[in-house]
Amino acid sequence: MRILVIHGPNLNLLGRREPEIYGRESLEEINEMLRRKAEELGVELRIIQSNYEGEIVTAIGEAMDWADGIIINPAAYTHTSVAIRDALAAAGLPAIEVHISNIFKREPFRHHSYISPVVDGVITGLGGYGYVLALEALVRRLSDKT
Ligand code: DQA
Repeated sequence: MRILVIHGPNLNLLGRREPEIYGRESLEEINEMLRRKAEELGVELRIIQSNYEGEIVTAIGEAMDWADGIIINPAAYTHTSVAIRDALAAAGLPAIEVHISNIFKREPFRHHSYISPVVDGVITGLGGYGYVLALEALVRRLSDKT
């Protein structure tokens, strides 16, 4: 089973970026946690981070030839990007949207996601651990248990 994990813009700054909102865990620490869980589940992971919308769109398109599922934190593009939504819809792969913070507890402009209607599920507000939960849920879904 192969899963593509996509971290969107500014997530490379995790740990130093507004820690009162996003916590003190770095992106590398989150990725390490994900790699450990993937090994435990026997899953192959590819993890990318990009600050560029077009790069994320391209990665989703390429995932059609490689991945069985996608975990994506589109970060600020969640609230703006029709292009990323269309890419996910076009790929048609099982996908889970993750947010570190609870977007519904924050400014109203973060309450709307262009992405949520085209993914299987959303995890928001559980910190970096949300990615691990997303991985478990996706593997379960791909194994046909849900
Ligand atoms: C975020 C929430 C978004 O609103 C924000 O723009 C981000 C990160 C999160 O993980 O909590 O950059 O996706």
